[in-house]
Amino acid sequence: MNPSRFQAVIFDLDGVITDTAHYHYLAWKRLADSLGVHFDEAFNEQLKGIDRMGSLALILAGSPRSYNLEETLALADAKNRHYQELIGTMSTSDLLPGAVEALAAVRAAGLRIGLASVSKNAFTVLEKLGIADRFDYVVDAALIARGKPDPEIFLNAAERLGVAPALCLGVEDAVAGVSAIKAAGMFALGIGKPEVLTEADVVIPGLAQFRLADY
Ligand code: G6P
Ligand code: MG
Repeated sequence: MNPSRFQAVIFDLDGVITDTAHYHYLAWKRLADSLGVHFDEAFNEQLKGIDRMGSLALILAGSPRSYNLEETLALADAKNRHYQELIGTMSTSDLLPGAVEALAAVRAAGLRIGLASVSKNAFTVLEKLGIADRFDYVVDAALIARGKPDPEIFLNAAERLGVAPALCLGVEDAVAGVSAIKAAGMFALGIGKPEVLTEADVVIPGLAQFRLADY
C-alpha cells in the first residue's frame, strides 16, 4: 500500500545517491591548472548541478584569454575523458548511506522512480553503482535543452513516468536543482543544509534520514 501522498519520486544523482563531486573537482582542477586558471573546492561547489558546458563557461570566465567554440568543446572533451577515467573505478561501495534503502522503500510503496541528472555520464554511474535496474525512467541528459534551475528535466521525468508534477517528490542536493523542482510544481526534498537549500519544502542531511511517509 502507498503510505505517501505522492505517486513518483524523482532523484538527482550526484550528491544524492553518490558523491561524484570530488571526481568532477579533480577533472576540472587538472584542466584549470593546465590553463593557468584558479580553481579550488569552493569554486567547485558552485558547479554542483550545472551542466558540463555551463561549468566550463564559469571556469573560463576566470581566464585572461578567450576561447572559441572549437577550443571550448575540446576542453570540455578533455575534462570528460579524465572524469570517465576517474569514475571507471566506482563500485557499489560508492553508494551514499541510505541510498539503496530509500530506493527500496519507494519501490515497496508502489511509487514510480525516476532519475533527473544533467550528467551525460549518469547511465555509466548507475551501472557502476549496480542500481540501473531500480529506475522506471532515467532522463537522457543529451535530450534536455535547458539545465537546472529550469524545470525541463523534472517535467520530462514526470511526463515519462506518467505522473502529474504535483504528485511527484523531487530529491536534490543543489540549490539550482531545488529551484528546478519547485519551478516544476513538485514537492522538493533537499539533501544538505536548510540554510543553503532555502527553497526546499523539507531538508534532511542525507538519504539515511529519508522517510517517505513523512512528506
Ligand atoms: C551533475 C554535477 C555537475 C556536472 C553535471 C554534468 O549535475 O553535479 O557538477 O557538471 O552533472 O556532468 P557530465 O557528466 O555530463 O559532465
Ligand atoms: Mg546533485
